[in-house]
Amino acid sequence: MFAILPGDGSSGTEALNAKSPPLAVLFVCLGNICRSPLAEAAFRQAAQRIGLEVTIDSAGTGAWHVGSAPDPRAQAVATRHDASIAELRARQVQREDFARFSHIFALDRDNLKALRQIAPPGNGAALSLLLDLVPGKEGQGVRDPYFGDEAGFEETWTEVAEAARRLAQKLTQD
Ligand code: 4NP
Repeated sequence: MFAILPGDGSSGTEALNAKSPPLAVLFVCLGNICRSPLAEAAFRQAAQRIGLEVTIDSAGTGAWHVGSAPDPRAQAVATRHDASIAELRARQVQREDFARFSHIFALDRDNLKALRQIAPPGNGAALSLLLDLVPGKEGQGVRDPYFGDEAGFEETWTEVAEAARRLAQKLTQD
């Protein structure tokens, strides 16, 4: 799902046509039903809190869940943190995303590797690992909560929210 902040019905295309370099951030995990929708929601919240105007989206490197709503456990944790991801639908990352987004964050190293394999050569999005934003967690991945229990989803939120806060601050300063 695309969203522009502040939300007034503007489209992603309009934001990308803005005069100043448009900020557009994509979060990528495997299925796009657990970690990256939570990262998307946490970053939307963090950006909104500091008035950062940015296009935000998420995607998966895998195609199994394309068109599905986020995992109910992810929806529940988002709700507990005053965010809603119920309206999001999973999609698979595309090569074109490297032109549409200024920044792409992989949720773990496997997905970073998969993204590097499809990245077109040239000046595309800056590609990095999400937890590289968090001091002490550089090089680490956000653990996949899919095969675990509810508590794992809360841990996911804690990790992505910390990275999201730092990312919003960083993009405001850049
Ligand atoms: P996500 O979690 O990558 O955080 O969305 C997963 C969701 C589904 C599967 C694996 C990970 N799966 O194997 O179906």
